[in-house]
Amino acid sequence: MGFREKFEKAEQALTFNDVILLPGWTTIEPSEASVSTRVTRNITLNVPFISSPMDTVTESEMAIALSRQGGLGVLHRNCSADEEVDMARAVKRAEALIIRDVVTVGPESTVEDLLKLMDEHHIKGFPVVENGDRLVGIVTGRDVRLADNKLKVKDVMTKEVVTGTEETSLEEAKRVLHEHRIEKLPIVDSDGRVKGLITMKDIGLKGTYPDAVRDEEGRLICAAAVSPFDIDRAKKLDRFVDIIVTDVAHFHNKNCFEATKKMMKAISAEVVVGNIGTYQAAEDCLTKLDGVAGLRVGIGSGSICSTSIVTRAGAPTLYATSSIADAVKDYKADVPIIADGGLRNPGDIALALSVGASCGMMGNVFAGCSESPGRLVAMEGRYYKEYYGMGSARARKKRFIQDRYSQPSKAVSEGVEGWVPYRGPVGDIVSEFVGGLKAAMGYIGASAIPEMWEKSRLALVTERGFHEIAPHDIMLPGANRST
Ligand code: XMP
Repeated sequence: MGFREKFEKAEQALTFNDVILLPGWTTIEPSEASVSTRVTRNITLNVPFISSPMDTVTESEMAIALSRQGGLGVLHRNCSADEEVDMARAVKRAEALIIRDVVTVGPESTVEDLLKLMDEHHIKGFPVVENGDRLVGIVTGRDVRLADNKLKVKDVMTKEVVTGTEETSLEEAKRVLHEHRIEKLPIVDSDGRVKGLITMKDIGLKGTYPDAVRDEEGRLICAAAVSPFDIDRAKKLDRFVDIIVTDVAHFHNKNCFEATKKMMKAISAEVVVGNIGTYQAAEDCLTKLDGVAGLRVGIGSGSICSTSIVTRAGAPTLYATSSIADAVKDYKADVPIIADGGLRNPGDIALALSVGASCGMMGNVFAGCSESPGRLVAMEGRYYKEYYGMGSARARKKRFIQDRYSQPSKAVSEGVEGWVPYRGPVGDIVSEFVGGLKAAMGYIGASAIPEMWEKSRLALVTERGFHEIAPHDIMLPGANRST
């Protein structure tokens, strides 16, 4: 191709603010629309919202809260492998009739050790075991509240333990816990070995979150980010997560492909790869990475990204989604697309879904929630939470995230640091986004997300037109709010 021809053949990398969804003939009311969707080949979410793997967005609290609402949080990797595994364990333990990954103690441990364990795992009661998980007692917060730190667990534990078996039903467990006025029921096998734990707290949660996304044992679905080059971390996480998400800025790279191939062979979780931005990248993922379960799509659109400013390279999320959706269609691949970056409101999600995404990943929106790990700060009478890019100097200081960006850029930041308005609990945001998305589906006339792929039509909006479609010519309260 000639150099000048590059201008003539330049593609239009349209972004959210460039287009609008055209209203169509509709036979449904928005309330009847279904927003359930797939995030991987095998896992279905009840709402199409995913929180970004960033250390100001998704740790276990966000992952638990979002999964309970029907979405998914991807745990960040800007920490040690053990810390990430602990976050995943907390998600899996958050809601399960029988906890399988039981934290136990030995009778010779001290009260001091026990208090540390309680703090570390945020748990208040432990089965006491010896000789290969054989139950010899149970110890809870009440037993140690006023106890001397040097005492041994065997001195303070309850020795007569009420237990259940694998056959214990939910109703039976409730009855036994109530009858004995206890909070925890260890599940043991015929040799007295601990096989699980039923807790009053988990029983109480049953039915509280009807939209929660669960695995076949009733535990919340869990996803975690890894570097494609960190097979050891992926293997450690594999026991506790359903989905592994590769977390690099530019996945369409020979070394990333080779490393991911190895990783996929070593683990059993479904693997979502990304980020990618073009038809060719999707084509390579679909043809060279056998069994890839999802595609994370969009480069440089994130609100904290400076990648495209620093490098002038990028694939805006809407452009990337439509290009990659075409590849998925052409290859008849059954692989969901996660649109990632720049999604600010339900309309952006509707646009991303309309051009072939199955769900949208958001950092900025979820960073503002109560459940995000970022610090809450008050400025000029308003509350904000801190939010920074994983390519920012701040995130890179922790070092675990260095390989998210290519080698030469290690000295260069590809992200910025700042604050986002505090938005309250994640449940409120999900309801607001579901409402907005269903309203958009009503305009399009789509009763389900796959129908949006077929029915939606787009129109281009000029920069001046964009002024008209946003609220205009009126003074809004909090006038420095961006529209
Ligand atoms: P939003 O717009 O929701 O975007 O804040 C979140 C997504 O942005 C990506 N991300 C980055 N991209 N430099 C980048 O170029 C960064 O420092 C950075 N940090 C996060 C990531 O895909 C995330 O989901």
